[in-house]
Amino acid sequence: MSNPIQPAEASPVAAGSPSAGRRLLVTSALPYANGPIHIGHLVEYIQTDIWVRFQKLRGNRCVYVCADDTHGTAIMIRARNEGRSEEELITQMSGAHQADFAGFEIEFDHYGSTHSEENRQLCHEFWQSMRAADLISERGISQLFDPEAETFLADRFVRGTCPKCGSLNQPGDNCGVCGATYSPIDLIDPKSTLSGSTPLVREATHLFVRLERLHDFLSEWIESSGALQSETANYLKGHFLANELRDWDVSRPAPYFGFEIPDAPGHYWYVWFDAPIGYIASTQQWCQRSGERLDDWWRSADCEVHHFIGKDITYFHTLFWPGMLKTAGYSLPTKVHIHGFLNVGGEKMSKSTGTLVAAETYLKFADPSFLRYFYATKLSSKVEDLDLGLEEFTDKINSDLIGKVVNLASRVGKFASGTGLATRYPDDGGLFAAAAAAGEEIAEAYEACDFSRAMRRIMELADAANPFVEHARPWEMKKDPARVDELRDVCTVALNLFRQLAIYLAPVLPKLARQCGELLGDPIVAWNQSQRPLLGSAVQPFRRMMDRIQIEDLQKMIEESRSEEPAVAVGDASRWTDSDQPLRDEPLAAEIGIDDFAKVDLRIARVVAAEQVPEANKLLKLTLSLGGDERRQVFAGIKAAYQPEELVGRLVVMVANLAPRKMRFGLSEGMVTAAGPGGAEVFLLGVDEGGKPGQRVH
Ligand code: 2FM
Ligand code: ZN
Repeated sequence: MSNPIQPAEASPVAAGSPSAGRRLLVTSALPYANGPIHIGHLVEYIQTDIWVRFQKLRGNRCVYVCADDTHGTAIMIRARNEGRSEEELITQMSGAHQADFAGFEIEFDHYGSTHSEENRQLCHEFWQSMRAADLISERGISQLFDPEAETFLADRFVRGTCPKCGSLNQPGDNCGVCGATYSPIDLIDPKSTLSGSTPLVREATHLFVRLERLHDFLSEWIESSGALQSETANYLKGHFLANELRDWDVSRPAPYFGFEIPDAPGHYWYVWFDAPIGYIASTQQWCQRSGERLDDWWRSADCEVHHFIGKDITYFHTLFWPGMLKTAGYSLPTKVHIHGFLNVGGEKMSKSTGTLVAAETYLKFADPSFLRYFYATKLSSKVEDLDLGLEEFTDKINSDLIGKVVNLASRVGKFASGTGLATRYPDDGGLFAAAAAAGEEIAEAYEACDFSRAMRRIMELADAANPFVEHARPWEMKKDPARVDELRDVCTVALNLFRQLAIYLAPVLPKLARQCGELLGDPIVAWNQSQRPLLGSAVQPFRRMMDRIQIEDLQKMIEESRSEEPAVAVGDASRWTDSDQPLRDEPLAAEIGIDDFAKVDLRIARVVAAEQVPEANKLLKLTLSLGGDERRQVFAGIKAAYQPEELVGRLVVMVANLAPRKMRFGLSEGMVTAAGPGGAEVFLLGVDEGGKPGQRVH
């Protein structure tokens, strides 16, 4: 029988050798040091780690750096609440983050911290360049100040009523209901999320980057560098570059945990100034450890710089950061790879549903390889959200990894240690050759970050390989000593096809690659090992590689995550000392059954029109929409508490099945829910972000 397939040889280019192809510097976004890593964060670190491992396997010189993002108000307040120094807090967090990453086989070449001397020095250097380029200006601004926490409040630490549509509990910069953007100072009834107190407006001097001066450079870079996915370039052109670029507020007055600005005492660089510089600082630490020169990685046309980030931090990385790099004379990103968010079971992750699963919790219930593989099947080069459904997760792992990939090894593994591998590759009907030929297509998909395409192609190869073992029936050959050569041939084919899959999957499943290397006495270190079969070697006794996953394990994981929810998200419950007066004024009503409650059909409704009723002392006339064309006219006794214009657009809760009531001014077709004693003290019930008109309140 002709045998066109040659045995494996040493790969011509050793992975990681300095003479190898490209040089790449790769980063993931630096995680904040104020919370644990969860499965949402892991999308990005797993995505980056897969890409980095792929580059290394291809023989490229690739360095993956990251660091904890340690500065800002949140860390300062948390350290204060916990009665320890910021340094102590960030040291502990860094340890926890690195343990989580290691648990998922995310392997950095260096993991640093933005609170490092290297970073401080680099920040000075960037700052001087920006001053020299006349990019910095100074002016006073009014900002909310928390008198209890004694700190100015970043937008996300303020919540209040939207000044446009009146929705309650909206963040400091934009309304989640009507989409309006505003300054936190414009919020109605603002509250600090740090202390619960009402913030004061205070004037403070801030330093700004005059970004408009970089407009032409940024337009050109976004248009023609090829660094951005086209959807991102279009978004930036439409949302930012079409207008004058606003100055970027880059300083914060004391108290602030960060680096003090050398030529502006009492002022600190805003965390988003020093965070991306942390990419370079972390590289510098790696250089010091490895005897490398920073300029070869950050100031060399021969080195590519790749950032992996989530879509929420796009403009920091595509406007501010390139502007800073350009001014300070560092390399611009070759590519900014932007991914979408993780949903779980079709919903946004949340603590209350237990879907915001901490990395540490996941590891108690499931194999990290499973999440790596699952994300790989979901990730493409587009900025799309991905969904983790428990059933889909279980099915994919059990059917693809256990049923197709590991199965190939386990069905012959226990016979192969007796036979070893044949010295000549047997006729396999062209399976090995076909899979070898697919190598470049799979590599292209990895290179383009289209991991889902790579996984699909690999599973097609697994689908083609499995019938070979089923038809050959090695377990029957094993019973007949005269068929030992046949058995060796079947083992040789099955284990070589398995090894090819393990090589192609090595960026995603490094543990499986190691197990395969140990089984066959030949570690997987290079992509081109997939092109030649391994022959003539001994096979080690087979050990189980992976176990099936049960959906119950994942359900338990969700259950545990739910119970981890702290009773109070920020601070200390004893701070709220609500009076018992309202309950004394109006004691609780007699108990009812659930059926009684179910009779009342409460619905979310949007106020689409509101007007005064001149003849009535207390009433406003509201037109409520239940979605679509469904409208109700309701007279509500809220005149002393609300102006019609502040109601239009907001969501309320209405009793939608109340019999219509004829009033002097017209028909009232329902009731709007509100609390309070009456008069000016009436408070409409609001709806949290995401609620939609027509939805029933249960
Ligand atoms: O969004 C975040 O989690 C930030 N800590 C990311 C910083 S990335 C970089 F610029 F440092
Ligand atoms: Zn609004």
